[in-house]
Amino acid sequence: MNTQFTIANPQRIVHQPAGQFEETRFEKIHNVIFNNSKEASVIVAQEIANLILTKQQENKPCVLGLATGSSPIKVYEELVRMHKEEGLSFSNVITFNLDEYYPMDKENIQSYFYFMHEHLFNHIDILPENINIPDGTVPIEDIYQYCIDYEMKIKAAGGLDFQLLGIGRTGHIGFNEPGSHFNSSTRSITLDHVTRVDASPAFLGIDNVPKRAITMGIGTIRNAKRIVLLGWGINKASVIKKTIEGEITSDIPATYLQRHNNTTIVLDEEASDKLTRVKTPWVASSCVWSENLKKKAIIWLSEKLKKPILKLTDKDYNNNGMSGLLSEHGSAYHLNIEMFNNIQHTITGWPGGKPNADDTKRPERANPAKKRVIIFSPHPDDDVISMGGTFDRLVEQGHEVHIAYQTSGNIAVSDQDALKFAEVTKAFGVNDNTIDKVITALQTKKMNDKDIVEVRKLKGTIRKYESMAATRYLNLPDSNVHFLNLPFYETGTVKKDNYTKVDIDIISNLIDKIKPHQIYAAGDLADPHGTHKVCLDAIFESLRELKSNSYMKDCWVWLYRGAWHEWEPHDIEMAVPMSPDQVLKKRNAIFFHQSQKDRVMFQGDDSREFWVRAEDRNRLTAERYNNLGLANYAAIEAFKRYHF
Ligand code: F6R
Repeated sequence: MNTQFTIANPQRIVHQPAGQFEETRFEKIHNVIFNNSKEASVIVAQEIANLILTKQQENKPCVLGLATGSSPIKVYEELVRMHKEEGLSFSNVITFNLDEYYPMDKENIQSYFYFMHEHLFNHIDILPENINIPDGTVPIEDIYQYCIDYEMKIKAAGGLDFQLLGIGRTGHIGFNEPGSHFNSSTRSITLDHVTRVDASPAFLGIDNVPKRAITMGIGTIRNAKRIVLLGWGINKASVIKKTIEGEITSDIPATYLQRHNNTTIVLDEEASDKLTRVKTPWVASSCVWSENLKKKAIIWLSEKLKKPILKLTDKDYNNNGMSGLLSEHGSAYHLNIEMFNNIQHTITGWPGGKPNADDTKRPERANPAKKRVIIFSPHPDDDVISMGGTFDRLVEQGHEVHIAYQTSGNIAVSDQDALKFAEVTKAFGVNDNTIDKVITALQTKKMNDKDIVEVRKLKGTIRKYESMAATRYLNLPDSNVHFLNLPFYETGTVKKDNYTKVDIDIISNLIDKIKPHQIYAAGDLADPHGTHKVCLDAIFESLRELKSNSYMKDCWVWLYRGAWHEWEPHDIEMAVPMSPDQVLKKRNAIFFHQSQKDRVMFQGDDSREFWVRAEDRNRLTAERYNNLGLANYAAIEAFKRYHF
């Protein structure tokens, strides 16, 4: 979506994404949608910088309420950049952070104290005495008074000029979990289970996530003169819709912001995905019917009315905000046939193209009949989880398939698993200092300790050979399996670095060597700071670099979704059906990744194992196709083409 606006002047609705839609009667909070979180963060940082400068000119302090978590990171990055490159000074800035876990030491790398210093305070010229972060070490009996004092300190500073917020999937702002009162002030609170689940990767397991926190109240936040809430990624789309379009309720504390008259919610495309104006714009107002929108609308209509596409009537279109589309096309009959054919043409059992066939209506080209293919897999297992069936077909149909595991995935192997392998090796008679070192390190490891290099190497090796077992099972020669071990991943912690030129070069060298006709990559565009997103961005960067090479003209890029989400039917440009036997074969391939079975380290809030998620997802896509009136397959893997 293109955006040609700033987020300032929020009392007036100034927002017009894509030049198509206007805010609608459904929306109760001003919001703006950007192409991505980076662009949005730069604009938010600009607003903060302008406020700081204005206050400087008036010789006044600028009082900022700050948030932690993944959402504000790029805003802080931009503020640091402005300080370093443009001389933006924070000498007149006083900050109050929203919250802190309790109990929590300042030195703990999971503390919000640590976070704020790492991402912002250590890199700017703010006076240390102007930094206020709720203290996770105050004795429990003193918390009540401590919270009153925190409130008083905000008031004494003149109140918050600007409050930056993220939003939790529970609808919390700060740590005001469901049930929080409209007028609540700074206090201690028990964290919601969902919030603790979301924090669990960083704490290496939910058992390590504190159960309590100290947080500014809803009343404290509402008193800010200006509020900007950031929402990134598909995981936030539901709660964002409820916040903007729902009734005010303590079940979703962020809805209280509907009563604040100077709030803007800043979104990326994915987080805005469920807003009526974005999801079903035809319901909200008249719209320009692009081919994509047409497809989205007709699929929506068919699913809403539970009628196959070919049975939709003029009346169905007229009654559901699609009369404009109907009048452009004359009749439901024509629209239905056109869309049915369009979706039918996405289905192919020949993901590498069908040799000697007319390919004008097929998702892939017939020629060359034997293609060179690279499947990029962010972790060693995403290939089989996300596209195991297609991978199998590509190999069976004689294409030269290469698998490139982008990261070692070492962090997701449990200490118990690693110890088991180390002890087996030792018991087998391998007397090597490294094994002893690894065993001792694992036996004496404490929470928050980083793994030593040797342990990381062992964990990476476990994943490597699990992968080889799976790729051999799918008849791929070992020489076609590439472990890229991208350096950005090797921090030894859950938090990863950004990619650098070294990562790009590794990817580019492989592409340049193989000169593929097809590239498959994990298109987890929603994930704001996860490994998949970095892996994809690195591929995109490498494609940009290589674009001018002649072989790239012949290279098509297909995106699959990772383990967590699937493409919506209107996004799908290639649908590869699977028979029941192929579903089983895919399941077996996933089973080879034993360290990721049963009790996996980064399960998220979905307790299903990866193979179950994959099967559910592929079955659901097939069911959705079937409900639209297309053939009834056991399972379908879905892809969207990326044009670079
Ligand atoms: C953080 C805070 C929380 C987060 C929210 C979203 O100081 O108060 O409300 O803003 O949990 O977290 P992320 O940004 O990590 O999705």
